[in-house]
Amino acid sequence: MKSKAIQGGQQELKGKRAIVTGAARRIGREVALELARAGADIAITYRNSDSDATKTVAELVGLGVRAFALQCDVTDQSSVKAMVADAKRLLGGIDILINNAGAYNTVEFEKITLEQWDDIFATNARGPFLVSQTAAKELRKSKGRIVNIGSLGGIQPWATHIHYCASKAALHMLTQAMAKALAPDVTVNCVAPGMIPMDYTTPKSQLRHFSEKTPMKRNGTAQDVAIAVRFLAGGAQFITGQVLIVDGGLGLSS
Ligand SMILES: NC(=O)c1ccc[n+]([C@@H]2O[C@H](COP(=O)([O-])OP(=O)(O)OC[C@H]3O[C@@H](n4cnc5c(N)ncnc54)[C@H](OP(=O)(O)O)[C@@H]3O)[C@@H](O)[C@H]2O)c1
Repeated sequence: MKSKAIQGGQQELKGKRAIVTGAARRIGREVALELARAGADIAITYRNSDSDATKTVAELVGLGVRAFALQCDVTDQSSVKAMVADAKRLLGGIDILINNAGAYNTVEFEKITLEQWDDIFATNARGPFLVSQTAAKELRKSKGRIVNIGSLGGIQPWATHIHYCASKAALHMLTQAMAKALAPDVTVNCVAPGMIPMDYTTPKSQLRHFSEKTPMKRNGTAQDVAIAVRFLAGGAQFITGQVLIVDGGLGLSS
């Protein structure tokens, strides 16, 4: 992949082939759509959201790219192997991997069970490791890009999400270590979103609290995350091992 500046409306990813995990809905869906707007063919993965996956594929195809939905549990090695093989076959290769699938829940420190600890690490840390390791050969061949979706919680300690914070911190370190292991063939970076409300269940008072606390005076959107991913998935060939925080400055203010 040659270094090339992104210009407005340019399809800088035309001919590139991308996997976006957990992209049937929410942030992953918006990332897949943004990469498609940049011209990339897309394989999205889903675990349970099969009807959303079908809708997202139709939207992607509507943007004029080739798109496929593949079922995958990122914690399961055989499922990951089958998904990567199918993506390679359907797309004809792999240039871009976006490790977006993730798990999140709120539990007080004393109440975190071993199962909750292991589950969140299996999805947020082992998952991106497994998918990246499995796709590494193809990505090296294509001089590709990996973008992991981390979290502001991997940088800031949130007392009611300790297992989540620790798993995202692990993902940030995985980003840096993989960047060295896969250089100079593949760049590996991470986008770490702050507060991105994705449904109507978040209480209005909480939305207001965070938007007021955020220097940019609003909460983030999936599009904010997708723009950062598009940048790192594209021409940024000399940027590797970085964690790009997308939080409107929220992390600066506490
Ligand atoms: N929303 C935020 O405020 C925020 C903030 C910081 C970071 N992030 C990160 O951004 C990413 C996307 O966030 P989101 O809120 O859109 O996430 P989400 O809805 O919680 O998760 C995204 C998708 O991950 C998939 N998934 C979960 N476990 C999986 C597994 N074991 N194997 C395969 N897929 C699995 C689910 O797919 P199915 O629905 O198909 O089962 C889900 O739709 C996540 O990595 C999240 O941690 C989000």
